[in-house]
Amino acid sequence: MKNLHYLITLILSLTIGIAKAGEGMWIPMLLQYNEKEMQEMGMRITAEDIYSINHSSLKDAIVLFGGGCTGEIVSDLGLLLTNHHCGYDYIQKHSSVEHDYLTNGFWAMNRGEELPCPGLSVIFLREMRDVTEKILTGIDVDMPEDERQAKIDENIKKTIAAVEKETSYKVSIRPFFLGNEYYLLLNETYTDVRLVGCPPSNIGKFGGDTDNWVWPRHTGDFSVFRVYADKDGHPAVYSEDNIPYKPDKHLDISLKGADEGDFAFVFGYPARTNEYLPAVAVDQEANLIDPITVDLRGKVLDIYNKYQEQDPKVRIQYASKHAGIGNGWKKWMGVTEGINHFHGVEKKRAFEQDFQEWALGARNRYMYIDLLKNFERSYKELEPYQLAYTYVAEAGLRIELVSFAGRFAKLSEVAKDTPQEDIDKMIATLKKSSEAFFKDYYEPIDREVAAMLLKEYLKAQPADFRPGFLNDIKDVDNYVEQLFAKSMFTDEAKVNELLDNFRPNKAKKLANDPALKAYQSLIGFYRNEVYDRISDLNANIDRMRRLYMKGQMEMQPDKRLFPDANFTLRVTYGKVEGFRPQDGKTYRHFTTLEGIMEKENPDIYDYVVEPKLKDLYDKKDYGRYADKDGTMHVAFTASVHTTGGNSGSPILNADGQLLGLNFDRCWEGTMSDLIYDPDICRNISVDIRYVLFIIDKFAGAKHLIDEMTIVE
Ligand code: ARG
Ligand code: ASP
Repeated sequence: MKNLHYLITLILSLTIGIAKAGEGMWIPMLLQYNEKEMQEMGMRITAEDIYSINHSSLKDAIVLFGGGCTGEIVSDLGLLLTNHHCGYDYIQKHSSVEHDYLTNGFWAMNRGEELPCPGLSVIFLREMRDVTEKILTGIDVDMPEDERQAKIDENIKKTIAAVEKETSYKVSIRPFFLGNEYYLLLNETYTDVRLVGCPPSNIGKFGGDTDNWVWPRHTGDFSVFRVYADKDGHPAVYSEDNIPYKPDKHLDISLKGADEGDFAFVFGYPARTNEYLPAVAVDQEANLIDPITVDLRGKVLDIYNKYQEQDPKVRIQYASKHAGIGNGWKKWMGVTEGINHFHGVEKKRAFEQDFQEWALGARNRYMYIDLLKNFERSYKELEPYQLAYTYVAEAGLRIELVSFAGRFAKLSEVAKDTPQEDIDKMIATLKKSSEAFFKDYYEPIDREVAAMLLKEYLKAQPADFRPGFLNDIKDVDNYVEQLFAKSMFTDEAKVNELLDNFRPNKAKKLANDPALKAYQSLIGFYRNEVYDRISDLNANIDRMRRLYMKGQMEMQPDKRLFPDANFTLRVTYGKVEGFRPQDGKTYRHFTTLEGIMEKENPDIYDYVVEPKLKDLYDKKDYGRYADKDGTMHVAFTASVHTTGGNSGSPILNADGQLLGLNFDRCWEGTMSDLIYDPDICRNISVDIRYVLFIIDKFAGAKHLIDEMTIVE
């Protein structure tokens, strides 16, 4: 069925133009339908060079890295590149005060020095197959949802079992186009992956959270790993006897850089987009939920900032919390701005009018004519519950004292007959988490945050959409004072005392702690009043979205549609280009080392520059990594459609050679997860020449460069 869809698409795309260039996350096995457009845009290789199951192709060099990022193999010896922020956890795990690899960087000078990373795996896609017909056998549109799902599950199981007989790869089947198509994936997972090198954070995280999502950018966001295999090249658990994995293909690296307007494509694992939502849902997200979240987080961040600026210790304590809250905060701000600037909701509404007209004359009109009306109703019904959820998560549980107390909920339910073994386990876990909590806890921040958030909560949510404890509050300041004075969870000594001498008869007193009571009230409210409603409404919305997707595919057989990102391998393409974020403001497409020197500020953590980097800059010792303009290029933007999960993905030139590593987007265009606008959506990559310059000139790890295939 989808092959028919793509076939019609192919025929029509030869005569009719295509949608906006730049938009789209394409399935590699169907890339032949994009090939012509890609070549017209400048590509000099073929779809087969990118994805093939008959011979080696670029896909053999791409991996899902650590379950959340993309990585690529750049040598015959399994050498892998990804982002610094993707390798961060593993770098941190190997870091200590004596060996602070986060601060100082790390470079294995031979293979013996490479560091094993337990828990880290990389996954190769070996093959993909369209199994839509098999999975949708016996399904008809009028089936009740649960019956439909049961039949699909049964078909999936049968299909997987049949394929498993002929392969040693891991077989899985995933829905695409919101359940209108199904594809089978054959994967191979390697679990012996070792850390080879990373720059110091001053380079790998230069600009930190201040520059996050922002252009111009100067982050050397890369780290280096190596994949190991058994002597036959198969996946194996860590062993000293393992040898570097020999890929069917590794990426060649171009030293030529890219000029404005050059074709470029990104090959990787985008996690999640929602490009086919109805207008009402986009409006709700961009103009209601996101702004509330941004507002609440902004107020929290203001308080963090105030205290972080006063005290260097607090700055470090709250750095990672700040980063976590700040990443979404900045992104969603961009989503709202972008959607409104682009008139995204209005454009969706105009499309919906066309859809409705088409539906009235469609063959299966009964499936489609009420959809949009029902979307309006369902999303309106969902709205108060979405808000309730937002406040529980962003206002209630954001109070550190309350969420920390919540970790003791199970312990507070211990009874006389609870096995001692279970209690011991709880205590051991709580000891660890409480040590970590107090290390980074600063009570004055939390107090101020609590008072602010509870006031916001009371102001914004009606009484029947609030947890009980909130309705009992007469005066917030007074409540917060009592809460912090009476709860034991502000005091590490008291918590340790409890954990060291815990007896079941203490559970009751624990349960009466005001912070734990607030937690229970929040969670109880969420469980009893919100969760089931959201699940029911969403189940219905999912069914409607599947039909709406089907309708959109039938309505526009001449338009090449792409399935939303779902953490499967995709190709996305566009051009290397800057943009105009605002009238009168233009962004050039690349940055240079000059910009790092301009940003340098020894007093601001995010902008400290490594002395050795300065030295290289002063001497202009860039070797063959300089651009033809003589400067050292650091990062560049392109109109390539990317999202979370694309971090670490290779960005490649017209010949399929590596130009850089994707690591972020410009915040003005983060709406690309909902609607892509080629004028303002830009991905950001670190220039591969900067990466090599750091490895070679800064770190002196030239042996790694020698492994790579460099095209000058
Ligand atoms: N904004 C990027 C992404 O969404 C990078 C995040 C990591 N970098 C940082 N400075 N926090 O994941
Ligand atoms: N920074 C994101 C990531 O880590 C990429 C993005 O959202 O553009 O995957």
